[in-house]
Amino acid sequence: MLAAWLDFTRQAAAGELTPMSVPGHKQRQDLVGSVVAGDAPFYGGLDTIKHADNLRVEGEARAASLWGADWCRFSVAGSTHGNQALALAVGKLGQEVIVNRTLHKSLLLGLVLAGLQPVWVRPDIDPGTGLPAGVGVPTVQEALAAHQDACAVFLGDPTYVGTISDLAGHAATAHAAGVPLIVDAAWAAHLGFHSDLPPHAIAAGADAMVTSAHKALPAYTQGALVLATTQRLDAARLDRAFEATHTTSPTGSIMASIDAARALLARDGERLCARLLRGVAAARKRLREVPGVDVLDGPGVEPTKLVVLLAGTGAHGHAVEAEIIRAGMPVEMADRDTVIPIPTIADDEAQLAKFTEVLIAAIERHRGTPRHPQSAAAWTVEPQTVLPPREAFFAQNETVSADNAIGRVSAELIAPYPPGVPVLAPGELITAAAIEALREVAGDGGRIAYAADPSLATFQVIAR
Ligand SMILES: Cc1ncc(COP(=O)(O)O)c(C=O)c1O
Repeated sequence: MLAAWLDFTRQAAAGELTPMSVPGHKQRQDLVGSVVAGDAPFYGGLDTIKHADNLRVEGEARAASLWGADWCRFSVAGSTHGNQALALAVGKLGQEVIVNRTLHKSLLLGLVLAGLQPVWVRPDIDPGTGLPAGVGVPTVQEALAAHQDACAVFLGDPTYVGTISDLAGHAATAHAAGVPLIVDAAWAAHLGFHSDLPPHAIAAGADAMVTSAHKALPAYTQGALVLATTQRLDAARLDRAFEATHTTSPTGSIMASIDAARALLARDGERLCARLLRGVAAARKRLREVPGVDVLDGPGVEPTKLVVLLAGTGAHGHAVEAEIIRAGMPVEMADRDTVIPIPTIADDEAQLAKFTEVLIAAIERHRGTPRHPQSAAAWTVEPQTVLPPREAFFAQNETVSADNAIGRVSAELIAPYPPGVPVLAPGELITAAAIEALREVAGDGGRIAYAADPSLATFQVIAR
């Protein structure tokens, strides 16, 4: 697939093509500029519309084999699409599913699409850091025992902050209850490719996983893999679910980049993961030498994750972030107490060491009075579900003031982003505490995503 893409882009660059097909830019760069350079359509580009599926099937089979799965699809719409495809691949309308409430909003909308009824499970929160651990196996066991008609267990693992659960224990629990374990491993495409890394979800016994090739691997933005074993999941249903919301015009550049990332992992994954492990270990060690700074570490944390804890320095994460953006090193996330850069296998040790020094200098410039870390609303939310998410999504709604919204049922999903965990979701009771928590995020400079009114003056509620 990569070879076909390279071939296509060479021909396009040489002006050898006069396509009488989409895309509408026809490989010309004199219309909208070079923003379309390298845009090779998958169908009718990498191969003819009739035959490109052969390339796709071969590429996906190579990935399935690398991850030990027997079904794989490449998505050009991120883990967002993968999560929704997997939600559509299990159960029937109205059936219960065990799922962690610290889920990414894409999966919550997957439950809306599929009409699944969530039974929420929650991770333990570390009182020292305010951050979530993985979800405990006994927690899921209890949920399955109390909801024997549930059709699957969905877990996000690693969590956004890199904490991990006992996935093998979860797989055994789910299988003992006769249901599949499905894992949103959006951040974990590199796991399993070095002996010092935890196994990936499929190797740990999960029946399916979604992962963003564009997050942990050097694939094009939006590239994601959906992988499954088909003992407990039906391959034809998986395909139908995947196709239901995937574009019919995938870009070949993204598809080829997923194949290329797979090839890189197969060839050099161990060496690149070893370098990343060394770089992150050195960064953690160096950061720990700075008074007041701490990092997440230990057996419950994915070892290539760098989560920097600032509370002991008194520095505000947003001020630190602004400095490192000015230094040309934007990070994935920062809030008051945390800075989360995303080191990947593309980073070498020197780059990570340089970033670490820039980060330390920024922290030093913004030191203040040490404080106790506060747990973000995304991790502590304990919703009261009044209506199934799908019913609430389609119900008639009205807009009311924040004061009048308290005690009403939310029609909308509202999530501080990142991490994109909904603090309010369709069908959930709007409480004063939820509004207060969202206002705190906004007041502190955080982004409130997906709200009809991001100022939080009004809310969309289910009409009476
Ligand atoms: C846990 C989790 N799942 C899914 C997604 C969606 O991934 P993508 O951006 O590839 O659609 C994200 C995005 O950050 C995420 O954090």
